[in-house]
Amino acid sequence: MEDYMVSTIEKINKQEFQNDLLNWFKEEQRDLPWRKDQDPYKVWVSEIMLQQTRVDTVIPYFNRFIEKFPTIEALADADEESVLKAWEGLGYYSRVRNLQAAVREVKENYNSKVPNTPEEIKSLKGVGPYTAGAILSIAYGVPEPAVDGNVMRVFSRILTIWDDIAKASSRKVFEQAVRELISHDNPSFFNQALMELGALICTPTSPACLLCPVREHCQAFEEGVQNELPVKTKKKSMKHIELIAAVLKDQEGKYLIHKRPSDGLLANLWEFPNVEKSQLVKPKDILHDFLKKDFRVDIQLEKESLTTIPHVFSHLTWNIDVYSGEILGQVEQKEDLKLVTKEELTQYAFPVSHQKMWKAYQEMVRA
Ligand code: ADE
Repeated sequence: MEDYMVSTIEKINKQEFQNDLLNWFKEEQRDLPWRKDQDPYKVWVSEIMLQQTRVDTVIPYFNRFIEKFPTIEALADADEESVLKAWEGLGYYSRVRNLQAAVREVKENYNSKVPNTPEEIKSLKGVGPYTAGAILSIAYGVPEPAVDGNVMRVFSRILTIWDDIAKASSRKVFEQAVRELISHDNPSFFNQALMELGALICTPTSPACLLCPVREHCQAFEEGVQNELPVKTKKKSMKHIELIAAVLKDQEGKYLIHKRPSDGLLANLWEFPNVEKSQLVKPKDILHDFLKKDFRVDIQLEKESLTTIPHVFSHLTWNIDVYSGEILGQVEQKEDLKLVTKEELTQYAFPVSHQKMWKAYQEMVRA
């Protein structure tokens, strides 16, 4: 560990720091559904959901997911389609595909019991150091750090750590710091208290230092630099993609849907046929040719687009022009190309942008 951190940690009275943090958490913690018990499976599901998604958004998804897949076995035995459907709208869908793969491994190799050692648990798909630490500490009481962006923010301030938290290599610095200060009597509450502090008090902008239970231990507060921390370099700029898509109905009133490839963005989700626009060819001609060439489907599109749907991902934005149209002749259905009724369509998991497309279509076209 760097000398500056050793000397900053030495300034902290560990016992008092832990007491102040834990007593605050015992009083102030939010009543959240994954805090009702310490079932390692439920802790796991909640931590995966919470990784890139806010608590308020996660709550109803967590409740529905656990109702539908209450145990390791239930999730291991479920078909992927229904699992994706339960995740529909949460985003970062590889999270749930990895979760199901990992849960299947726990069923096969660990007799359906989530392992309780760092080595075993980190070997599971999609379980990195953060998730491993969260499950080990919350479900099993093991004093392992669980360092995510919130915890890095809190610790950067308490110990004035000036490492760039956007760099992957910084996480180890913070893990070491947590190892120095974590309570061995209650690692679960210690880690959860850091998350809670980051969410409620030690927020990214204008932290509520006057309400902070560990203000007296905070080096950044003492130096008045809480607003300068954490150091976080900007991520790469956004890429913009223009798409054209169509809701296409056949003579029987069924709709054409396509399953996305099993890797890459929104893997394995269903969508309405769409293609990237080009400067050189008229948008409708592109879509026309694309459906003919890739799917052997002949279509007739309406003159005007129904709507344009913007969608923002973490590194990417989509602008989708949406058309309605009809399918001429027959469609050769395949694993990844189906004609479905309006009712059947609700069984498939679609990205949010395509759900919006369907909604706009239903509002604007006599479906
Ligand atoms: N963010 C990540 N994990 C969390 C948890 N267990 N409780 C609240 N917020 C969290």
